[in-house]
Amino acid sequence: MLEIVILAAGKGTRMRSPLPKVLHPLAGRPMLGHVIDVARALEPEAIHVVVGHGADTIRALFANSDIQFHDQHEQLGTGHAVARALPCCDDNHQVLVLFGDVPLISADVLREFINQANGECGVLTAQLTDPSGYGRILRDATGMFQAVVEDKDCTPPQRAITEVNTGVVTAPAALLRQWLTEISNDNAQSEYYLPDVLAVAAGHGHPVHALVSNNNLAIMGVNNRSQLEQLERLYQHRLAEQLLLAGVAIIDRTRLDVRGSLTCGEGVVIDVNAVFEGEVVLGDHVRIGPNCVIRNATIHANTVINAFTHIEDTNIGEDCAIGPYARLRPGTDLAHGVKVGNFVEIKNASFGAESKANHLAYVGDAHVGEATNIGAGTITCNYDGANKHQTVLGDGVFVGSNSTLVAPVTVADRGFVAAGSVVTNNVDTAQLAVGRARQRNIDGWKAPRKPNT
Ligand code: UD1
Ligand code: CA
Repeated sequence: MLEIVILAAGKGTRMRSPLPKVLHPLAGRPMLGHVIDVARALEPEAIHVVVGHGADTIRALFANSDIQFHDQHEQLGTGHAVARALPCCDDNHQVLVLFGDVPLISADVLREFINQANGECGVLTAQLTDPSGYGRILRDATGMFQAVVEDKDCTPPQRAITEVNTGVVTAPAALLRQWLTEISNDNAQSEYYLPDVLAVAAGHGHPVHALVSNNNLAIMGVNNRSQLEQLERLYQHRLAEQLLLAGVAIIDRTRLDVRGSLTCGEGVVIDVNAVFEGEVVLGDHVRIGPNCVIRNATIHANTVINAFTHIEDTNIGEDCAIGPYARLRPGTDLAHGVKVGNFVEIKNASFGAESKANHLAYVGDAHVGEATNIGAGTITCNYDGANKHQTVLGDGVFVGSNSTLVAPVTVADRGFVAAGSVVTNNVDTAQLAVGRARQRNIDGWKAPRKPNT
């Protein structure tokens, strides 16, 4: 039976940031969120999270009945942090310790590690070409584990050791509790180091399984923004590789960012500098042009999103053409065959099939029927300074260019609004609405002249 303890109390001084370290986002989610997901994937009996800096924010963000939070008011070290959670762990259970700042640890790596430790004490290690900052693994001449020495406590020869502590440790709860009472803070940082329990265990003759992981991405820790950026790029690179191998035509894998989940059908093409946030679903043969930002959206088959388009909380039907330079704000719902052109902003509005707003328009709080055409420069005046009002356009409506639709207002099916109209009254089926001053042409008019010309 497994219980997982996640350490997340540290401030993260080296991040030089007001945000607690474990809340810094990786791929759009706090690092701690990634670690909690992995913990859940292992289906433990309990998940414990030790919190200190930003404790209230962390508790609120991750509040869930499957997580027990424990306070560590003073950050006296990783060993001290684990001791905060241990009183709530069952003596007969195996404890697995994870760090909130090692966000890409993978469930597969951990399963393998737990299996190999086999109910005894274990530490997951890795070989790094640049081990600086990490605790080094000391082994004896036969290769048996001896101890972990922290970077700051290393002698020069120890500093040259390239095998490092990933921070992932496992031990039986009862023994871990005992060993934690035997470590001291007599070291460079005056902290109670968790890895010191491994030396204590070895000293008592308990086997310590020091297992080397070959997944260096999964074990990387984040102590500063440089490491976070590095890990983000590695993560994005790995994700792009998965998408490419699944058949998504990504034009440049170094210019794709997925901050959430991206699900793609067949034949999808994604041009450079696309940013996907939240949950995005792209249907078969959808094409995303360069420099688009797409957040929480479903885009159905064969739709083309042209360059520099921003989309948020939107559903787009099949065979639509959007952009370039379109902005679809929350609550946009487009049926199939809709065309939205450059400098068109849509918010909280539905468009029926085959309707168009091809240039320079604002459509907010509106229902647009099928095969309706919204001319260039059309504005729905949805806001009176206090309340929002609806504009309803029926099927086959034609709104001439530079019209102002003052909501609440309805133009029924096949209604026709003359260009330049200010529409304040409802328009009935197939009526023509002309809401502008009549043109006068004046004969014999003399243009003003400058003096002495
Ligand atoms: C730690 C390990 C080091 C290992 C490295 C792997 C120790 C002493 N050192 O070093 O051997 O190579 O991780 O990434 O364990 N934390 C608390 N309470 C505390 C101190 C830390 O909750 O009192 C949490 C932090 O929030 C962080 C994690 O524990 O999530 C690790 O702490 P950090 O200070 O980053 O340790 P490292 O110096 O990286
Ligand atoms: Ca760390």
